[in-house]
Formats: sequence, C-alpha cells, structure tokens
Amino acid sequence: MSRRTLIAGNWKMNGLSGALGYFDAVAPVAAQAAADILVCPPATLLYPVARACEGTRIRVGAQDCHAHQSGAHTGDLSASMLRDAGASHVIVGHSERRADHGESDRNVQAKAAAAIAAGLVPVICVGETLAERESGEAIDVVARQLAGSLPDNSATVDLVIAYEPVWAIGTGLVASPADVADMHAAIRERLPNPATTCILYGGSVKPANAAELLSLADVDGALVGGASLDAADFSAIIRAAGS
Ligand code: PGA
Repeated sequence: MSRRTLIAGNWKMNGLSGALGYFDAVAPVAAQAAADILVCPPATLLYPVARACEGTRIRVGAQDCHAHQSGAHTGDLSASMLRDAGASHVIVGHSERRADHGESDRNVQAKAAAAIAAGLVPVICVGETLAERESGEAIDVVARQLAGSLPDNSATVDLVIAYEPVWAIGTGLVASPADVADMHAAIRERLPNPATTCILYGGSVKPANAAELLSLADVDGALVGGASLDAADFSAIIRAAGS
C-alpha cells in the first residue's frame, strides 16, 4: 500500500451555516486533485458539510473527540457521534487543545484509540514550542509526544500524523525546509507503520509556500489552518499538490 498525499483544512472555531458555498468552489478543484482532500469544520457544521460534500472528493473531519463513546460528559462529543454526523477523520492533540485544555499525551492517546474504535482515522498532532526548538530539543520533544500519543494498535490501523511546530501556527513563520525534512524523517523512523502512514506538515501553510513544503522528502501533505478558510487559497494549496 502506498501513501497518498492528503491536504487537510482545519477551520478551528470559524464558520457558520452561511459558509457552505465554499464547497461549490472547492469541490471542482478537489475533483481534479492528485491528493485526498479533507475539511475539518467546527462540529456544528459537520453534518451540513458532509451533506454538501456528498458525491465530491472532499472528506469531512472533526477537530476533537472525547475518549469515551458515550456517557455523562456534558458538552463533549464522542467519536461515534462524529462518525454518525458524517466524519471520516478526527484531529486529536492539536497544540491549541493541548495548551487551552491541558491535554496530555495520555489524553491524546485515549482519544486516538476512541477514534479508531469508532471507525475514524485520527490525525494525531505533535510539535515543539519555540523555546524547545531554540534549545535544540525539538526532535526529542516530538519523539516523546509521538511515543505517548500513538495508540497501542498503531501498527495495524490507519492513522495520520501532523507535525505542527507550535511557533509556526497562525504566525506566518514556517519551519525551514531542512528542519521540516529532518523532523519528518525522525517521525517516520519512529512510526510502527512507516511505509503507509501519512505525515502532514502544518503551520502557516499558504499558496506561496505549499509547493516547496509538499516537495520535501517524507512530507505527505499539509494541515492548513488560516489559509483553509478561504476557498481560493485552499484551492491553490490543493493545486500545489498536483493534479
Ligand atoms: P495555520 O494553522 O495554518 O493557521 O498556521 C495550522 C493548524 O493549526 O492546523
């Protein structure tokens, strides 16, 4: 089995029901794309986005899930609920959740396992802070996050890793091509299923830098935040992955 490029958009806490016209613009671009395309809207839009994307090559993902499939967890959503709403993937361990909600590697691992149990593909995020990069610890930090966040059955299931240096998210700063290539190689070496696991780069991916990032060894796609909110920018990034 070979790896297919994946271009994923993470809308974060953006998007109301009026935003669905976006898919009229992106679906024809996705139809011509060499890559697989995933859009992760806020949970309130999962179902309408899944409906809007029926019959297109755009798949729909969620941005987080609970570690349990049901129960007394007010305000949370389980992986089975997300699947029921039309999701095929779920992002887990995004650095904004690790920071804003104190999520540990152990939490992320439990969420990834719950996603897999519900039939979703987890997109497991890892990445170092600027202080960790500057002190030369980036690879050690990411290796530790990876070891702690990968579920036990990782060797036999479909999952995606997203390397997102925290300092590059939403800042316009991008890791250098050499640093991205080194980190992706380091991640690949530590994966139980290296040949088939997609490793995405995320952090200020834009139309202007997408082609270069996507051409790097071991970069199998992109997780795009801000630029995925604009249909023209996201379409340009999809085109950068080839047709
Ligand atoms: P950004 O976000 O593209 O806006 O930097 C990436 C992400 O957080 O997934």
